[in-house]
Amino acid sequence: MPRDASSSVRAVVRVRPLLQQELEAGHENCCQASGDRSILVRVGAANQFRKYSFDACLPEDRSQKQVFQESGVTCLLDAAVAGYAATVLAYGQTGSGKTYTMMGRSSTGDRTSDCGDEVKRNDGLVIRAARRLFRQIGESTGGSRITVGASFAEIFNAPGAVNECICDLLNPDAGHLQVRFSQKHGFFISDLAVAECRTLADVRAVLEAGLQNRRVNAHALNRESSRTHALFTLHIDSEQDKVCPLHKSKDWSREMQQS
Ligand SMILES: Nc1ncnc2c1ncn2[C@@H]1O[C@H](COP(=O)(O)OP(=O)(O)O)[C@@H](O)[C@H]1O
Ligand SMILES: [Mg+2]
Repeated sequence: MPRDASSSVRAVVRVRPLLQQELEAGHENCCQASGDRSILVRVGAANQFRKYSFDACLPEDRSQKQVFQESGVTCLLDAAVAGYAATVLAYGQTGSGKTYTMMGRSSTGDRTSDCGDEVKRNDGLVIRAARRLFRQIGESTGGSRITVGASFAEIFNAPGAVNECICDLLNPDAGHLQVRFSQKHGFFISDLAVAECRTLADVRAVLEAGLQNRRVNAHALNRESSRTHALFTLHIDSEQDKVCPLHKSKDWSREMQQS
């Protein structure tokens, strides 16, 4: 991401609040992020802290909207629309908040809050990015026709398989898909379905449909954890007007990956 001329990668930490069951069990927060670029992590029993620095450290009181605004994803979107392939990767321990950050609350299994405004307030980076993208496309006055598509794949360990397997979450009956390489596309997943999305509701429908098909394997840290990797991609295709037929069709893709 072109945050500045020298860096194309940005590392951001988000601290999530303690959950109700953690509070009830008497757990205490061991991280202190004050909103600048460093975080203090308690080490050992005594009041000893170690300081770590990142491009941004977002404390537990940050809303989903603030995380979208402060994490640098908006710059990434601008880069994607300018023609760069861009990726957001959520990485962390099970239960640390990856699915919530990327997909929102209705997608983490907390169905008690599954009503309109609440879901929207908790929308994750994927939907917020798509909303901004459609707004950008709507405001665009250039001569290009832009279409948006979405695909959703899952990488998982099948019993007995030597390597990790890939499944199309929009077409789970298609079996295991293969990773291929071509000069034009670089590495890509062969035969992965790309659903055309004309509106934000279309993207939301793709996200929800794919999440329904994720493998869920409950364990102690997170009742709804899938123990797999999800790869959600927004494909942005631009075709120039007939004025300049040589500048035809440019592929951009933007990935939202959750590990
Ligand atoms: N920032 C947050 N604020 C409130 N609840 C959160 C936050 N991050 C995560 N949670 C909750 O914590 C639980 C675990 O989060 P989840 O995203 O499923 O973890 P992961 O995907 O990393 O395993 C879920 O119930 C989720 O709703
Ligand atoms: Mg998860």
